[in-house]
Amino acid sequence: MLHLLCGRRHVGKTTLADYLAAKTTRRLRFSPRNSLQAYPGDDYVTSGLSASAILQRPSWRSLTVVPDIHVDDAFEHTMRAFKAWYQTMEPALLETGESVSVFVDEARFGGVKDSESFDWVLRCTDRSTVHVILTMHRPKDVLPDIRAIVDYWYVLYIVHPRDLETLTDECGDAVATLAPKLKEREFIKYDVNAPPGVRAWTKRDDAATWAPTNHTARRVLPSNLLGDDVSSDVDDFELTDP
Ligand SMILES: Nc1ncnc2c1ncn2[C@@H]1O[C@H](COP(=O)(O)OP(=O)(O)O)[C@@H](O)[C@H]1O
Ligand SMILES: [Mg+2]
Repeated sequence: MLHLLCGRRHVGKTTLADYLAAKTTRRLRFSPRNSLQAYPGDDYVTSGLSASAILQRPSWRSLTVVPDIHVDDAFEHTMRAFKAWYQTMEPALLETGESVSVFVDEARFGGVKDSESFDWVLRCTDRSTVHVILTMHRPKDVLPDIRAIVDYWYVLYIVHPRDLETLTDECGDAVATLAPKLKEREFIKYDVNAPPGVRAWTKRDDAATWAPTNHTARRVLPSNLLGDDVSSDVDDFELTDP
């Protein structure tokens, strides 16, 4: 499934995306900037080559890639390795019902548009097994052909008229009217596949539910990993809920 999160800066997109990604059995995170919180015990790498090496181990669990240079190359390498891993593992994943998240933060860089492997991941993986989660500032930051296959929008505070126009096209008038009225860390979840006659969106104002438990911690890389477990025990917003 494809989950898109959009909204202005500092309204909580990355944190919410991370919360969603932590709900799956395995988690691959990619950030063009050092914007992700560190989790103890996770693998952290700064190149596509190192990411590929880890993804070759069938047993990898949680990998964060923050490329130091050549973001697009690192992304393609990482996605190619993920694709190969998934192709080998698909029967086992389907049998055990395991889920995997592929979380790309600030997903407006070129690689997201150009990577053939990522395109494959978006279109050819099992929908209930692989959850691709992308954050972006503006709804148009990802291409229309990616927006065309989204399952869930998570709309945080958005105010720019052009962005609201896009939002009207994607999620309808009601969501676009509400988006500029949202407070920090409130969001609307919009289900693209909601059946006709059923309201497709819900507003969420329970930020405490998905607050990082160690959010005072700095966003850091391997040399400086943190202590506290940041997993949350709240289960009321499953990735797949209607
Ligand atoms: N639900 C929440 N509860 C408490 N603090 C939060 C919550 N969501 C985000 N924050 C904090 O707000 C700041 C901005 O969040 P972030 O997720 O980085 O926003 P964005 O990705 O939209 O720029 C961070 O310091 C983060 O720890
Ligand atoms: Mg962010």
